[in-house]
Amino acid sequence: MDRYGVFGNPIGHSKSPQIHRLFAEQTGQVLSYEPLLAPLEDFSGSAKGFFETGLGANVTVPFKEQAFRLADQLSERAQRAGAVNTLTKLEDGRLLGDNTDGIGLVRDLDNAGASLQGKRILLLGAGGAVRGVLEPLLAQRPAALVIANRTLAKAEQLAGEFAELGAVSASAFEQLHGPFDVIINGTSASLGGELPPLADGLIKPGVTFCYDMMYGAKPTPFCQWAAERGATSRDGLGMLVEQAAAAFELWRGVRPESGPVLTQLRSQLGA
Ligand code: ATR
Repeated sequence: MDRYGVFGNPIGHSKSPQIHRLFAEQTGQVLSYEPLLAPLEDFSGSAKGFFETGLGANVTVPFKEQAFRLADQLSERAQRAGAVNTLTKLEDGRLLGDNTDGIGLVRDLDNAGASLQGKRILLLGAGGAVRGVLEPLLAQRPAALVIANRTLAKAEQLAGEFAELGAVSASAFEQLHGPFDVIINGTSASLGGELPPLADGLIKPGVTFCYDMMYGAKPTPFCQWAAERGATSRDGLGMLVEQAAAAFELWRGVRPESGPVLTQLRSQLGA
């Protein structure tokens, strides 16, 4: 059986095995997809062992940067992201590293009817999650993409690195000039139930679309903040499904339908 899986630590709660099994059922592909727990100090050894028989693997926290270093060859978007979430064994046995997180975000924004071309986008955070999505976001040709971060220097660093790809700039939260058409939260603040300091004027009620790359059974603090100020909001569960769909397509050459899978995951999350 064609073997795939997802590396992480911890990995027990990963939704990827279920998502890929649903994709396989839906498209009639015969494959296995397992959760793969790698020890923190030996991702590389685990991955090499897996790829003796395995054909492809997703990679999640905390191994995306290690997967980037392990890959023999990198897609351009993975190179820009500095992180790999999808490894594929090539015919000659070498490993190709790709990153489908950004395309997952762009596709889920599209699912929600939020177009990016010509729009003013605010991106909150300047860590790995934000770096991973910058190239695909800029490829949509927004009029402006502002990266705001608590530590301004990290936002400036990222804006500088991606400047040749589009109209990207950096700002402190307090210096932002709203409103924005789209606001994307890529900070890990919601993990601690927190929110970056965001002024009300960043949102234009009825116009601004807010997207949280995090998700949960209940609306995230960021989605609540958005809804209370009259913005439409969406959490990152769809991004998770779409990044998986892009990996599945890369491996199997068939693009699964994400909608029914997202509906099923959402109802389980709420249950
Ligand atoms: P990830 O890989 O998930 O992006 P990370 O690289 O640790 O994780 O980045 C976390 C991001 O969330 C950073 O932009 C961080 O801001 P700093 O660079 O200033 O640390 C941001 N963040 C985390 N907690 C936050 C909070 N309570 N308020 C605002 N920003 C926060």
